[in-house]
Amino acid sequence: MRILVTGAAGFIGSAYVRHVLHEHAADRVLGLDLLTYAGNMANLAEVRDDPRFGFVQGDIADAGLVGQVATDVDAIVNFAAETHVDRSLLDPEAFAKANVIGVMTLLEAARTNGLRMLQVSTDEVYGHVPSGDAANEHYPLRPRSPYSAAKAGGELMCQAHGTSYETDVVITRGANTIGPRQYPEKLVPLFVTNALQDLSLPVYGDGRQVRNWMHVEDHAAAVDLVLRHGASGEAYNVGADNERENLDVVHAILERLDKPRSLIRHVADRPGHDRRYGLDTTRLREELGWAPHRDWLQTLNDTVDWYVANPDWWQSIREHDPRFQDYYERQYGQRLAGV
Ligand code: DAU
Repeated sequence: MRILVTGAAGFIGSAYVRHVLHEHAADRVLGLDLLTYAGNMANLAEVRDDPRFGFVQGDIADAGLVGQVATDVDAIVNFAAETHVDRSLLDPEAFAKANVIGVMTLLEAARTNGLRMLQVSTDEVYGHVPSGDAANEHYPLRPRSPYSAAKAGGELMCQAHGTSYETDVVITRGANTIGPRQYPEKLVPLFVTNALQDLSLPVYGDGRQVRNWMHVEDHAAAVDLVLRHGASGEAYNVGADNERENLDVVHAILERLDKPRSLIRHVADRPGHDRRYGLDTTRLREELGWAPHRDWLQTLNDTVDWYVANPDWWQSIREHDPRFQDYYERQYGQRLAGV
């Protein structure tokens, strides 16, 4: 199979590229990535010299470019997205462009060329899920942030393309994902790298929000399974059933790093903060036979240990990229000053 992987230089996209080239000797991958602040060619270092891999820098919302790169492939897997909820509260327009217009542009290319398209979406499209409940794939979509609303918009565009043009689309809705090479803005990589520098860990509100965690390699394997065996027009929840309160995650990070809990600072909450995500992953497990390879502690420890072992990777972002520093100041300056 020849696969166009968009967002190939990102966290989950690059893990997926490695997964495909490792697991499917006859496959070829063409990576497309705009290389925004979160895209990083260092994430593709392991595959850069593989003759089965090619790379193009560009935007999924650029119809001319997408039309060109989609002619020699059998499928599109779309990881390209704006992904960070806090940034979506600061700049919603960028999210609508990448996560709705970008998806629509890829769908047009899939339709024109008769390709299967897999849209990588998120469990955040379900919005807050009350305690004791678990969203299966028929649960109502009630996104509550500009990020999740844009992801839901992208999904609806996929479903409309399937209905209106019989475009072959499948969707995955992934839970919180951690592992090596995640940009240090999300809870786990931000807190690990802050703790390594003895900086405060800014916990939003009471820290009792619930998220459901999995390893990036398990997520990549699930996406691949859905691409190859998922039923056209269907969505599949992807999660490893590791529900944890944020504070428990933060305590586990500090324990692994042997750092004190006094680094924790409770700060002003994220506006509209979803209290809990709860996901029913029966379909993926029973219909496609997926199971995660790592339990919760292996997932967390593998992540923490990677940041400990790879300071160059995250220091080049945190210390040398003004885009990180600007964002950090905007997001945390007043919060940490107690304003
Ligand atoms: O559920 C899947 C989603 O998980 C993905 O679709 C998103 O792309 C990804 O960003 C993630 O969304 P979250 O908002 O759950 O992830 P984040 O790491 O930003 O936050 C996790 C929890 O930690 C959330 O309850 C907010 C809290 N948090 C986060 C940060 C960055 C803090 O308390 N302090 C922080 O500084």
